[in-house]
Amino acid sequence: MAAARLQELEETTRNLFLGMETCVLEIGCGHGHLLTAYAEAHPEKTCIGIDIIADRITRANRKKNRARLANVHFINTSAEDFFAIFPSQISISDLFIFFPDPWPKRRHHKNRLMQTEFLSRLSRWITPNSRLYFRTDDLAYFTATEAIVRAHPAWALHSSPWAFEFTTVFQARASSHYSLVAAPQKPL
Ligand SMILES: C[S@@+](CC[C@H](N)C(=O)[O-])C[C@H]1O[C@@H](n2cnc3c(N)ncnc32)[C@H](O)[C@@H]1O
Repeated sequence: MAAARLQELEETTRNLFLGMETCVLEIGCGHGHLLTAYAEAHPEKTCIGIDIIADRITRANRKKNRARLANVHFINTSAEDFFAIFPSQISISDLFIFFPDPWPKRRHHKNRLMQTEFLSRLSRWITPNSRLYFRTDDLAYFTATEAIVRAHPAWALHSSPWAFEFTTVFQARASSHYSLVAAPQKPL
C-alpha cells in the first residue's frame, strides 16, 4: 500500500523535479495563501507547497492558476512521503513551517513534525545557506522546538531576518505567535 502510494507520488512528480536544482518548500501549506504570495514576490524562485488534505491543495492550485504563476507547485502529500521520494540532488534553500499541528497532549508529541529525527533527515537537502522558518501560536510547541534545534548537532538558532512577512490563515486566528529561524551549523 505505502509502496504503491510512493510509486505514484514519484511518477506524478518526476517531470516537476527534472532539472530542478533548488527550491523553497512549505510543509503544511493549507490553502496556499502564503506560498502563492511568496512566489508572486519572488518569480526567480521555484516553490513547492505540500499538504496532506486534498481539498486544501485543490484550493491552493486554484489560487496559483488565478495568479498565473508557473513557479509554484502544490502537491497533496505528507512530509513523510514527500521526503521518501524527493531527489537528494535538489537543495531546499528555505523551508517554511507555519502553524503546524501542535499535538498538545504529551502522548501525542511523537506526532509533531519538529523532532530531532526530522531535522537530521533534512540534512540531505540543505546547504550552509539554507534556512528553516518556524512559526506557531503554541508556546509549548515553540519552546520544545527551540530546545530541539539548540541540542541538534547539525542545526542552530539563527538571527536571519524573517523571510517573508505574511499573515497565514492560522496566524489570523491566533492571538499571538512565536517564530524562530534555524540554520545548519558550520561545518555541516
Ligand atoms: C494548522 S494548519 C496550518 C496551515 C497554514 N500553514 C497556516 O498557517 O494557515 C496545519 C496544516 O498542516 C497540514 N499537515 C499536517 N500534518 C502534515 C504532514 N505530515 N505533512 C504535510 N502537511 C501536514 C494540515 O493538513 C494543515 O493544512
